Amino acid sequence: MKTVLVIGGGGREHAIVDALSRSSQVSKIYCAPGNAGIGGQAENVPLKDTDVQGLKAFAIEHNVDLTVVGPEAALAAGIVDEFRAAGLRIFGHTKAATAIESSKEFAKKLMAKYGIPTASYRSFSDYDEALAYVAARPFPAVLKYDGLAAGKGVVIAQDLEEAKQALAYMLLDKTFGDGRVVVEDFLTGPEFSFLCFVDGDSVYPMPLSQDHKRAFDGDKGPNTGGMGAYTGLPFITPEDREFAYQEIMCKAASAMVSEGLPLSGVLYGGLMKTPQGIKVIEFNARFGDPETEVVLPLLRSDIFDIFDGVASGRPVSDPEWSDEVTLGVVLASKGYPGHYDKGFAIDNLDKVDAKVYHMGTAVREGRLVTNGGRVLMVVCRGKDLSLARSEVYKEIEKIGCDNLFYRKDIAHLAF
Ligand code: AMP
Ligand code: GLY
Repeated sequence: MKTVLVIGGGGREHAIVDALSRSSQVSKIYCAPGNAGIGGQAENVPLKDTDVQGLKAFAIEHNVDLTVVGPEAALAAGIVDEFRAAGLRIFGHTKAATAIESSKEFAKKLMAKYGIPTASYRSFSDYDEALAYVAARPFPAVLKYDGLAAGKGVVIAQDLEEAKQALAYMLLDKTFGDGRVVVEDFLTGPEFSFLCFVDGDSVYPMPLSQDHKRAFDGDKGPNTGGMGAYTGLPFITPEDREFAYQEIMCKAASAMVSEGLPLSGVLYGGLMKTPQGIKVIEFNARFGDPETEVVLPLLRSDIFDIFDGVASGRPVSDPEWSDEVTLGVVLASKGYPGHYDKGFAIDNLDKVDAKVYHMGTAVREGRLVTNGGRVLMVVCRGKDLSLARSEVYKEIEKIGCDNLFYRKDIAHLAF
């Protein structure tokens, strides 16, 4: 029997721990740092996700057979390189391969070189050159800082004034650091997420899902980490999916092999179905959150086999997925994604007849309380989306908490 360490402490990691707890081969799960809900299915370890040395020492001391990395920050900190050098098995990409997410320019160059469809672009380090280019082209203009920018690195400028402001804080004030700016064409169409397990050029697709990035109903309000997700996308045909699999996900995996940076973890395609076909908006080097919470409950195969196979470069049998669909709604603290307070009691979770993944919770004086912007995600499955949706909203009603809000229109494109 195997011991597994999961790194991270949000809803995504709760869904990973939940999937691992269904494995017949896993007898012990640790999660660092975990959260109050994860603590019900794993043993939480009080180590930060970027404390690479601390995590390595823990894995050695506790005879961990396999470590699974959730957050990008841990990958970018080089945890995979460090674990492998110590002879430890770990699921996740090397620091160098994580560039497919952490550097917009790296990703754009890769797509251009290997013919992967995406918005055309140019990149700049000089403010005046960037401004001249933007001014000569149609608006809106898409400006992306090339580096980590705490979710604030993408600006869709509606006019020259907005573009000037954004370019000034990215290139003159260097608010995020000394990076370049990618300027790309504005695309339109519904967005969706394609997560695949990838080992070199072996690509094992997961069901497609769609996130809801805006805070309020009708896709209004500020951008968030994601307010809900579902599978069973009504606007994607089997041909679309095949195109996205072959021409985007498989091509990207082989491109990384050709570049000497083979992937070994999850590749997340943030894709858009434009009038000119499916194109890449961005790649991520990890599971999506909240997508993971609706995708992994559909996995019928043993997830340990997949993680362990990819981590050790062994072929994996094609994962099997349920034909049902899932729909999940995020309950967030009032005020999120802006300022919010923590510490509000959460009651009646034991009465909820659905999967409840904890995103930001803690236990204080024996009571479960809110402890983050996104707090809980309630996920139901069913034969179709209307069944799953009515089920989810019925179950959410049972949860008692004074400081939560949620969107009432998750999967609106399907209705
Ligand atoms: P990113 O961080 O690259 O995923 O960008 C954040 C969001 O900005 C995306 O989810 C899209 O909604 C939007 N976006 C990014 N690039 C484009 C583009 N080329 N055209 C239209 N919208 C975009
Ligand atoms: N759901 C968006 C992300 O994980 O990046």
